[in-house]
Order: sequence, then structure tokens, then C-alpha cells
Amino acid sequence: MSPFQLTRTLPEDATDAALRADVLQGLTRTPKTLPPKWFYDARGSELFEEITALPEYYPTRAEREILLARAGDIAAATGARTLIELGSGSSEKTRHLLDALPELETYIPVDVSGSALTAAADALLAERPGLTVHALIADFTRELALPAAPGPRLVVFLGGTIGNLLPPERAAFLRSVRSLLEPGDHLLLGTDLVKDESVLVPAYDDAAGVTAAFNKNVLSVIDRELGADFDPAAFDHVAVWDAGNEWIEMRLRARAAFTVKIPELDLAVPFAAGEEMRTEVSAKFREERVRDELDAAGLALQHWWTDSGERFALSLSGPPARR
Ligand code: SAH
Ligand code: TRP
Repeated sequence: MSPFQLTRTLPEDATDAALRADVLQGLTRTPKTLPPKWFYDARGSELFEEITALPEYYPTRAEREILLARAGDIAAATGARTLIELGSGSSEKTRHLLDALPELETYIPVDVSGSALTAAADALLAERPGLTVHALIADFTRELALPAAPGPRLVVFLGGTIGNLLPPERAAFLRSVRSLLEPGDHLLLGTDLVKDESVLVPAYDDAAGVTAAFNKNVLSVIDRELGADFDPAAFDHVAVWDAGNEWIEMRLRARAAFTVKIPELDLAVPFAAGEEMRTEVSAKFREERVRDELDAAGLALQHWWTDSGERFALSLSGPPARR
């Protein structure tokens, strides 16, 4: 078998059809919303990598600390021969796991960003020439058709990306992950934890303005793909802590009243001055909530690991042992 294979489970134009449907639906409702997966074109993936290095953005460093400390425990608990990573991005942190898993044969990174997948696979294969890498361009919120691969299998979902799904999407997502797992397989899940607003808000509204550029990049994607005339400079980046929902909400606020034209959708979208459109949530968790949500999906929590600052958690769960 060739060591690297890139598979698209969606036809090229499915992305396009999904983008059209999401933009039409999101921009014609009140309040307006845009779904987060459209942040990640090549530029968006680059901007996210810049975010992970910002002094204010602690989740990446906290999660790396846990991975470094626990990679041996994870290897011992899972004995994984296949590692499937959802929303893998640069696969930067995943290296710590790959290095610790002696039995590992196959790595299956799954992402909507083809550019991120190719760059990550190139870098990994240079370091681990023996590894079979089967990259998959796919939307993890849809049905996942995974290539056959030897068990035990470990599904990893890092970066706190699960917090970017709304609660009903999260429940459906966890059930679909559960359906991929057989007894002896595991899910390793990264969740950012509830903490003081004074730490949370700057992580999503940094002094250098990288997160603002990332948030506004979704407008450039719509301009390019759908011929729209969004002016990113006509919006302000907003990050607020919603204490009731325990999530950070990212918004774009119109600096003045104007109408945006989207020719490909035959749509004109009026904005009022100060109108805010939600682009992303990033939910923050407590152990109990993670345990309960896993449980509801048929997954039993087996390990809960945090960093020394208790900012972020990795949990290991799996199908419950048969009685
Ligand atoms: N796991 C990496 C990257 C996190 S950023 C880390 O922890 O640093 C979120 C990643 O998920 C991006 O690479 C983005 O392209 C991908 N992504 C977002 N929504 C997705 C979806 N619906 N399906 C597949 N990938 C998605
Ligand atoms: N999964 C990341 C998080 O919730 C994604 C992210 C980081 C993000 N910063 C962002 C998404 C800014 C939108 C805007 O932390």
C-alpha cells in the first residue's frame, strides 16, 4: 500500500452546495449566523495556526502539556493500531501521541481543509516513513465513511473543537463517533474548561488582532466562493462570555448600515448599524458535563486528565464493558 493517500468523501461541489445552503439559511434568519466550518480555507487554517502561538490563547499549550504527560498512559490504555483524528488541522500536537504508540500502523487525519491535511501528512511522513497515512477530506458533522483499518482504534478529537458545535449537534456528533467504535476502541477528547472571564475573553480577542482577522476571514470566503461584496473592514470582531450557556460567542458587528449583495444566491442582505451576526461558539466544560454527554452517547468515561493549571482536560472514554 502506498504510504499516503488523500481521499475526498464529498464531491468538490458538495462543499459548494453546503456553503450556499448554510449562507442562505444563516443570513436570512434573525439574528444572522454563519456556521464555523467555513473559517478554514487555506488562509483560515494558517490564521488558526497563528492563533495557537498567541500569548493569550492558552488551550493549545495546555492540551500539549497533558498530551506530553499522558501519552504513555494513553498508549497503555488503548494499545491503538489505528489513530483516527477528527479536525486534525496541522496534526502538530498529535505527534506526541504518534511517538508514544509503538503498535501504531495507520493514521487517518480527517479535516475539511485539504491544504492543512496535505501539509500535515507531508511533515509526518518525513518523520515517520513507516506510517500509513490515509487523509480524508470530510465533514465530521456528517456521516463518516472511514477506510477499513486494524483495531484497536483510537479516535482523537483535540483542540476543544467539540465546543464549536451547538449542544444538539454535539449530541449527534458523539453518537456518530460511538457508532464507529467497537469494544476495546477509544475516544480521546480535548475540552476547554470553564474559567474566569478575564482569561477566556482575551483568548478569543487577542491584542495583535489575529483572532479578529480569523473571524473576518469567513467573509472573504463568502466573497470569493459566492461573489459577495462583504467588506471585512466594515465589521468589528466581538468576543463575549455567555455565562448562562458557558460558552464564548464570536460575532461580527456591522460598523454602519449597509446592504451586502451575494449574486450567486441572488440575495441582498441588509445590515443595521451595530447589528451583530454570530459566527462561532466555543463552549467550555466541567467534568460532570463531559461525563454526562459521553454517557448519553453510550460512551463511558475512563480517564480525566487536566494540565497543571486545570485549564483544559483530556478525557478517555469507550463503549462500556459488556456485562
Ligand atoms: N486539532 C487541531 C486543529 C483545531 S482547529 C488543534 O487542536 O490544533 C479545528 C480544525 O477542525 C480545523 O483544522 C478545521 O479545518 C477542522 N474542522 C472544522 N469543522 C470541521 C468539520 N465540520 N469537519 C471536518 N473538519 C472540520
Ligand atoms: N476550536 C478552537 C476554539 O474554540 C477554534 C477557535 C479558536 C476559534 N479561536 C477562534 C474559532 C476564534 C473562531 C474564532 O478554541
